[in-house]
Amino acid sequence: MAGRIPQHFIDSLINQVDIVDVIDARVPLKKKGHEYTACCPFHNEKTPSFTVSQQKQFYHCFGCGAHGTAIGFLMEYENMEFVDAIEQLAADHHIDVPREDSQIPQGPDNTGVYNVLELAAEQYQLQLRQSQRAIDYLKKRGLSGDISKDYGIGYAPDSWDFILKQAPSAAAQKDLATGGMLIEKNGNQGNFYDRFRDRIMFPIRDRRGRTIGFGGRILDQGEPKYLNSPETPVFHKGKELYGLYEAKKSVRNLDMIVIVEGYMDVVALAQNGIRYAVATLGTATTAEQISLILRSVKKLVFCYDGDRAGKKAAWKALENTLPLMRDGYEIRFLFLPDGEDPDTMVRQEGQQAFELRLQNATPLSDFLIKNLEQQTDMSSMDGRAHFAELAKPLLNKLPESIFKDLLNESISKEIGLHNKRLVEAKPARLQQSPSAESKGRQLRITNVRLAIGLMLQQPSLVSAITLPQQLRHAQIQGIGLFFELYELIRSTPELSSAAILERMRGHEMSSYLNKLLHWQIPDADDKETCLIMYQHAVRNLTQEMLQHRYEFLENKSLSSALSDDEMNEFRSLLKLKALYDKENENTLSEEEKSDLQRLLQLNIG
Ligand code: UTP
Ligand code: MN
Repeated sequence: MAGRIPQHFIDSLINQVDIVDVIDARVPLKKKGHEYTACCPFHNEKTPSFTVSQQKQFYHCFGCGAHGTAIGFLMEYENMEFVDAIEQLAADHHIDVPREDSQIPQGPDNTGVYNVLELAAEQYQLQLRQSQRAIDYLKKRGLSGDISKDYGIGYAPDSWDFILKQAPSAAAQKDLATGGMLIEKNGNQGNFYDRFRDRIMFPIRDRRGRTIGFGGRILDQGEPKYLNSPETPVFHKGKELYGLYEAKKSVRNLDMIVIVEGYMDVVALAQNGIRYAVATLGTATTAEQISLILRSVKKLVFCYDGDRAGKKAAWKALENTLPLMRDGYEIRFLFLPDGEDPDTMVRQEGQQAFELRLQNATPLSDFLIKNLEQQTDMSSMDGRAHFAELAKPLLNKLPESIFKDLLNESISKEIGLHNKRLVEAKPARLQQSPSAESKGRQLRITNVRLAIGLMLQQPSLVSAITLPQQLRHAQIQGIGLFFELYELIRSTPELSSAAILERMRGHEMSSYLNKLLHWQIPDADDKETCLIMYQHAVRNLTQEMLQHRYEFLENKSLSSALSDDEMNEFRSLLKLKALYDKENENTLSEEEKSDLQRLLQLNIG
C-alpha cells in the first residue's frame, strides 16, 4: 500500500513546476501584463476573468472565485484527488514520488493488477532468453539485446497456461484476468487460458513506467499479426503511447517526439539512435495522446506511410491537433515512400538520413493547404470558393494565435483574397468589468493584513526582520496567523508562496490566505518597496503592541505596585517609545539606533 507523500516533496514539487505551463497545457493562456489570462475553465464566460500569476504560482478567477496552486488546478480541472494530482505533476516532470511508510490505503486499488502485469513482463523476458527461435526472430529484425532490454521485450511461450500458472493464488489469477492476460473458456466460468501464446511481447508502460498492457507479435505468418491487451482498469488505448516512457527516460531534455504506427517502428528507430519515437496502439491518434505529447515537447512529427491510408490517418491527426495548436509549436508530417515504414526505412538508410527526413518534414500548415488544394480545382472561382469553404471550419478549430493569423493569411492568399481574412479575428477582448476586477483584489489595508499578504507573496521577506517574540501575544486580530506563517517560513525558508498555501490546505484560514495571495497590494511593485512596506507593517504592529502593553502597565501602576520585572519592562517601554518617536522624526543617532535594536531584542527577545 502506498504511504504518505512527504511534505518536503510537495514543497519542492511546487517549486519545480510552473503553474503557467501546467495550466497552459490544458487551458491556453494569453499574457496580459504580469499575468496570464484565459476564459475560465470552471464557469461559462465570454470574456476572460481567469488569471494566472507566474510570480505567485497561483491562479484566480474574478468571475467565479476559483483559485489555487498548480496542484489545486489539476484537482479541479482533471477531477483528481490530491495525491493523483501530485503524481501527475511529478510524472509530467519526470520526478519520482517518494512515500513514507504508512498503512493508510488510498484510492481504488489496482496494485494487484500492476503487480501481476509486472510479473508477466519479467517472465516473458526470461522466456525470451530461453527461446532461440524468438531470439533469432529479433536478431533478424535487427534488434540488439540492449534495446530489447530497454523496451522490456519478451516472449510468450507456446502454451495455454504459461502465464496462468505464474499466478500463485486465486487472487493473483483474478488480477491476471482483470489485467487482460487471460481469456475465459467458452461457457466455462472461472476457467481461463492465456491470451498471448507464441508471440514476441512488447510491454506497454504508463508514464510512470508501470506495465499496463502488452502488444504481442506473431513470429511467423498468421492472424492477427499483432494481438493487443484489451481495455482494462489500468490500460486505456486512447490515452497511452507506446514508447513514451522509454523516450522520456533515455533522452535528456527531450524536445521532440515522432509518432509512428507500430511497435517495431519504435524499437527499430531506437535501435538506430532515434530514441524519441512513440506509437499509438493500433488506433488513430487521439487528441488526448497528442495533448499528452505536447505537454512534454513542442516539436512533434507525425510519421505515416505515403499511401492513401497513411494520408487519411495523417489528416485525422491534423484535425485532432488543430484545437491544441499554440504559438511555438512545431508540428510536421512525414510521409515515407510507398511500401516503407520507419522500421524498414531507418534500417536502410540509417539515423542521419532519417533525421534529415524528420527535419524536412511537411509543416502542418503546408500539409493542410496542399491537402485542400488536392480536393479542389484552384484554377476556377468555384474551386477556390470550395477551398475556402473547406478551410473555414479548420481555421475555426484553431485557438486565437499568431499561428492562426498566419495560416489565415496564407489561405487567403491562396484563394486570392488579398488583404482580406477568411475568418474574421475575434473582436479585441473586452476590458474586464471594473466590478469583477475589484472583487477580491481590493482589501482594506491593515497592518496585519499587509504583513501577512506581503510575507505570503514574498516569503523571503521573512528573513529581513526577526519578529519580537512578545508580538505573538499582542491583542491584535490575525497576529496568531501571522506568527504561524512566520514560523513556518523561518523553519522552511525554501517554501514558495504556492507551497505555503499547499501546506495550509485544510487550515481554517486557508481561504483567507488564498485571498491575500492574489491581493494586489497597492504600490507593492518591486521587491525593495515590498521590503520597506513589510518593515513598516511589522514596526507598526510592534508599536501597537508596545502601546497596548504600556497602557496596561500604566493602568496597573495606578491601582497596585508593579513587580520588579514589570517595572523594568515599563522603563524599557518608556525608553522605546522615546526612541520610536525620535525615529519617526528621523533624528536617531547611531548610538540610539543600536539602543533601539538592543531594547527590542532584550526586552522582547
Ligand atoms: P503494421 O501492420 O504496419 O505492422 O501495423 P508493423 O508495425 O509494420 O509490424 P511489423 O513490422 O510487420 O512487425 C502497425 C500497428 O498496427 C497495430 C499494431 O499496433 C502495429 O504495430 N496492429 C497491426 C494491430 O494491432 N493488429 C494487427 O493485426 C496489425
Ligand atoms: Mn513494419
